[in-house]
Amino acid sequence: MNGTYKAVSAEEISKQNEYMSKLRIANDRYFLSAGYRRKVFSLTLGCQQNEADSERLMGMALKMGYERTENPEDASLIIVNTCAIREHAEKRALSLVGQYKHIKAKNPDLLIVVCGCMVVQEHRANEIKMRYPYVDIILGPSLMHRLPEHIWQRSGGGKRIFDSATDEYTVAEGLPVSRESSYRAWVSVMYGCNNFCSYCIVPYVRGRERSRRREDVVKEVRELIEKGYKDITLLGQNVNSYGKDSGFDYDFADLLAELDTIEGDYTLHFMTSHPKDATKKLVDVMAQSRHVAKHFHLPMQSGSDRVLKAMNRRYDFEKYIGILDYIREKIQGVTITSDIIVGFPGESEEDFEGTLNALRRARFDMIYSFQYSPRKGTPAAEMAEQIPQAVKSERFDRLLSLQNEISLESNKPFEGKTVRVLCDGPSKNNPDVYSGRTEGGKIVFFDGEEGDIGQFLNINIDRADTFALYGSIVR
Ligand code: 5AD
Ligand code: SF4
Repeated sequence: MNGTYKAVSAEEISKQNEYMSKLRIANDRYFLSAGYRRKVFSLTLGCQQNEADSERLMGMALKMGYERTENPEDASLIIVNTCAIREHAEKRALSLVGQYKHIKAKNPDLLIVVCGCMVVQEHRANEIKMRYPYVDIILGPSLMHRLPEHIWQRSGGGKRIFDSATDEYTVAEGLPVSRESSYRAWVSVMYGCNNFCSYCIVPYVRGRERSRRREDVVKEVRELIEKGYKDITLLGQNVNSYGKDSGFDYDFADLLAELDTIEGDYTLHFMTSHPKDATKKLVDVMAQSRHVAKHFHLPMQSGSDRVLKAMNRRYDFEKYIGILDYIREKIQGVTITSDIIVGFPGESEEDFEGTLNALRRARFDMIYSFQYSPRKGTPAAEMAEQIPQAVKSERFDRLLSLQNEISLESNKPFEGKTVRVLCDGPSKNNPDVYSGRTEGGKIVFFDGEEGDIGQFLNINIDRADTFALYGSIVR
């Protein structure tokens, strides 16, 4: 065992297991008398880490004897897993919770739990306390293993529970998990963030970095592969910091290399990497690996050194592009994606043009772009020169139209080529067409069949546009 690893104690986990068993008995009794099971409805906003957390919350709920429903009106337990990264995400969460008021009015036995990053912020916790009196439990992401105990207390007539503020950041192993997919899976390798980028709320709501033990990660990934999972994404707010808190000489590149030795037909992905910590060693491991996807998501945020400094990113464009060039040199055919923020406080027209030029030079396959959203308690929210909304919107549109040209240019060369795609099934907008993703995450549409779902397929691409590739299966 290493020095700083702080696990949720075995006693605490077994205590929560006991609450799950007690609730299971109560819910089974309910089933015997009512003829149907109490149901749980869950909804997730935000990032992949939140998706992964929700799969554990759902795992616990099912173990407590709830049955899953897609309709909140039928539920006896509603779990909303919130995000705090931008104001828009918070507004959505609050409006959803607002909609559950009438369900609670009809069904006073309903329990409403609001989890996730939003509720860790004191002002949001207070807002829910005062303005959403029908919310029963709020629970922070670092404390979610306590869900069973809180449900037991509250359903037994206890007071409303507000359990989100903590500065004790631990790792909980052994919680049940109910995965959404039978072939794509998330595996957290670390939690929290120590970087304090000046715009970002994450370090305040998810706490300090802590890595899971290597043996726990390897075991989880091995079991997933044995179960037939094809696509596994290793998650962390900054995976490149993996192991730094453990006191061992074993970093994220070592972890990837170890996982890559597991035999099977699967692909490994990871996100997110901070450019300041992206090492040549990591790129070399990727280049030599058998299973690591040729995909690098490396958030640049801005192409202006002045803005990068104000963002506290601790790299400049030259360093960033140096990493990109190295990745492209070592990994032929790699897909590179990025995150960009426009309208950061003090961003001048010249700074913004720096970002446009950076896009021209970096030639990302795709970007996730965001308008800066002030987050209470972060340094950037206090900066003097906030950018007017009209300017943010205008820059956002210019950014997108440039990136769309670049994305189209980066997709065009796929025409006439065969790509390996993991099939997801009928596409949302047109069920006659199947969709899947390349290992670089590009969306591909093709003529699939039900038996293809969850399988790797070779697709001959005959057309490419800005957002997707189109083709047919090579059978
Ligand atoms: N406003 C806008 N975008 C943000 N991001 C993080 N914080 C903010 C904010 N306050 C973006 C960053 C990050 C991505 C997950 O969200 O680009 O990489
Ligand atoms: Fe994920 Fe960050 Fe949103 Fe939390 S605030 S859900 S960590 S994106």
